Amino acid sequence: MEHRHHGKSSANFLDSDEILGELNLCGDETFMDLGCGDGYIAIKAINDYLHEGTVYAVDVYNLAIEELDAYKDENNVENLINIEADVTKGISDVDDGKIDVILMLNVFHGFADVETRDKVIDELSRLINDNGRIAIMEFKPIEWSFGPPTEIKCSPVELEEIFSKHGLKKVHLNENMGQKSSEDTSHYMIIFEKE
Ligand SMILES: C[S@@+](CC[C@H](N)C(=O)[O-])C[C@H]1O[C@@H](n2cnc3c(N)ncnc32)[C@H](O)[C@@H]1O
Repeated sequence: MEHRHHGKSSANFLDSDEILGELNLCGDETFMDLGCGDGYIAIKAINDYLHEGTVYAVDVYNLAIEELDAYKDENNVENLINIEADVTKGISDVDDGKIDVILMLNVFHGFADVETRDKVIDELSRLINDNGRIAIMEFKPIEWSFGPPTEIKCSPVELEEIFSKHGLKKVHLNENMGQKSSEDTSHYMIIFEKE
């Protein structure tokens, strides 16, 4: 069965500064928060990290995009572009190579079957430019008090294997992110670039 998570936000358990800080942004990048949910990362990026940049907030869930459109209008944010799209079908509004950094935060585990994953990774690869980066932040495949069932969580090693089949190599891995317990942390971030 498909794992449904429309409208869920990580805002109450993942710190936006920890996530955006890990990306080492210069401030002028074109950034995509893909599967943005309520957009707390996209909004933080616009306000504090990308004053000279552009942020694409993309989600398949129309209410998420409507709320971000309202935020954009109320706050006169020109460099926030909100797009309702399904990444498994392609984000046709965005040209090839347009994006410097894509972040998928707690989204990738929702794509369970191999065919769907392949389509998503091909689309990510199309969207980034030759020096672009794809950052996947995910739950570690361990029992935790919240988050998706452990059996659908994927490890960084699994992601590295899948992405390598699409000509994308790991350039960064931090396995010490997210919520902390006495024994472990809830999340990792892995970053890929074109080979
Ligand atoms: C668990 S939520 C995470 C939201 C946000 N990234 C966060 O961490 O707060 C997953 C998000 O991915 C979106 N999503 C799921 N499948 C998608 C798809 N095929 N294309 C675009 N967005 C998708 C959902 O609508 C949801 O908003």
